[in-house]
Amino acid sequence: MKKKIFFIKKLKSKRKIVCLTAYSKPITKILDKHCDIILVGDSVATAFYGMKNTRLISFETIINHSISVSKAIKKSTLVIDMPFKTYRNYSLAKKNVKKIFKKTNCDAIKIESNGKNSSIISKLVKSGYPVMGHIGFTPQFKKKFQPQGMSLKDEKKLIVESLKIEKAGAFSLVLECVSESVAKKITKILRIPTIGIGSSKFCDGQILVTDDLIGISGFYPKFVKKYLSLDNILNKAIKRFKQDVIKNRFPKKINAY
Ligand code: KIV
Repeated sequence: MKKKIFFIKKLKSKRKIVCLTAYSKPITKILDKHCDIILVGDSVATAFYGMKNTRLISFETIINHSISVSKAIKKSTLVIDMPFKTYRNYSLAKKNVKKIFKKTNCDAIKIESNGKNSSIISKLVKSGYPVMGHIGFTPQFKKKFQPQGMSLKDEKKLIVESLKIEKAGAFSLVLECVSESVAKKITKILRIPTIGIGSSKFCDGQILVTDDLIGISGFYPKFVKKYLSLDNILNKAIKRFKQDVIKNRFPKKINAY
């Protein structure tokens, strides 16, 4: 097994796993110092491009952002989200995954579960491509936001699904907006680490969309903790620039040739 993937799996019994999303080199340069996993998420569709949903992002766009991100990766594990419809069957998935690995130098890809695609994960893993699973609220397949695992029936479904994905060989599993008690149970049952987003402190690691955490996305559901109001800081800086330009205080002689 690849060294970085082995390291992430081992962390389950040692300490919490730190993960964030990135879409570009400058941000990745900062995140790489602090994160175990950096995900080029298909959230780039909504957070960066202002698209209506994550299903709209193209394969080429994810690849371009991943190439940018990979330029700043020194130590963290780079995982790339497979966009909607790029892994509908194994042969399509293999062709696209092969392309992503070749073009981006990533360590793994992430696949959202639709409850039926664990055999694709299994075949990709057997072909040598590390896969991160993703269950719970999976935006590519569930249009309306709803916390998951709120009924006994749903709990059973999620547990069965998580075991299937582990059996398929995934090295970790994202739990998105899964109820606290179900996230706790899945984390206890699985040998691979669970990475939570909106799924309580009981997961083995946590992931957030960086743009939410730094306060530039304007999207702050209750599972997001806004660590910074970068929007306010940027506003102040841009306002100062505007005033300097209007009042002819910038550029100065030292800024000219
Ligand atoms: O696309 C994304 O950013 C994700 C995370 C929210 C897990 O899938």
